[in-house]
Amino acid sequence: MKVAVFNTKRYDRQNLESIAGHALTYIEAHLNAQTAPLAQGFDAVCCFVNDELNEAVLTQLAQGGVKLVAMRCAGYNNVDMPVAERLGLSVCRVPEYSPYAVAEHAAALILDLNRHLRRAHNRVREQDYSLDGLLGFDLHGKTVGIVGSGKIGQAFARIMQGFGCRLLVTDPYPNDTMAAMADYVSQQELWRQADIISLHCPLLDSTYHLINADSIRQMKPGVMIINTSRGGLIDTRAVIAGLKSGCVGYLGLDVYEEEASLFFDDKSDSIIQDDVFARLLTFPNVLVTGHQGFFTREALGQIARVTGENLDAFARGERSGPTFVA
Ligand code: NAI
Repeated sequence: MKVAVFNTKRYDRQNLESIAGHALTYIEAHLNAQTAPLAQGFDAVCCFVNDELNEAVLTQLAQGGVKLVAMRCAGYNNVDMPVAERLGLSVCRVPEYSPYAVAEHAAALILDLNRHLRRAHNRVREQDYSLDGLLGFDLHGKTVGIVGSGKIGQAFARIMQGFGCRLLVTDPYPNDTMAAMADYVSQQELWRQADIISLHCPLLDSTYHLINADSIRQMKPGVMIINTSRGGLIDTRAVIAGLKSGCVGYLGLDVYEEEASLFFDDKSDSIIQDDVFARLLTFPNVLVTGHQGFFTREALGQIARVTGENLDAFARGERSGPTFVA
């Protein structure tokens, strides 16, 4: 099959080059209404989390002959699924590449925020060995609230269990693996009891702005909030108000609701136009990384392997299976 691979970086190419039997054309640009004509004449597009697969784009793709949208990520909230189905486009994804990668990144954000590692390192580089401002807390014995008990939530639970934390979890679909490690509670109970809240649920209409002014009001003063899932889970303006009042004590983000115009590209020469994001970066107790939770060697290898299998399956005429969502 002829596949237009959008939004590709050097590291994507290095891994996707292992895919045999298909003609992959690498396009650096994101997929959007302006770049969709580049897919004219291709059988499939291969896309990532920040590509725009809305009605206008999907219509252009279908008219240009594309029959398959192969997402090289787990989430597909950026694909207008009813439109894809109406247009007869198949959509597949990589449901699981490394839950450990994302869970370990969530733990890294917690450790850095708690023990002020960046600040400490900068001090040492300046020959300043004072400890004022570096005070942390023992993770041991703290209550960690996990929102979402899927693959990443479970991997995260195992890590936090290792630190000796007490685990609470909320999920409309409980499972036995998580129940063996954590106590299932209501969302409100989790807000009320957790010292650290880590989000591991998908972005859905029902989870959009799950963290908002009302939920923050219910949380313990000084709570730590970690989001390695999807930016839209947090109402950023509400969390900024929480940080200013001290209700939110720490915030660790690997995702941001307006990240599409920011992340994955070198913007070091440009002026940040997003004032909300710029404000976030001014807080000493906020740590932001640019959607790198998935970014390990193992995960990239798995993404390429499963994407290749998805293309093979589609080429054989298969239109359903665990990796096909439409
Ligand atoms: P999963 O599908 O295994 O688990 C998601 C869990 O969330 C399910 O158990 C589901 O029942 C639960 N859930 C749904 N609605 C909920 C709600 N309202 N409250 C609490 N739980 C709810 O997914 P997985 O693999 O664990 O991934 C979780 C999320 O992590 C993905 O949706 C994606 O957004 C994000 N992710 C982030 C990456 C990064 O690089 N930062 C990479 C990969 C995934």
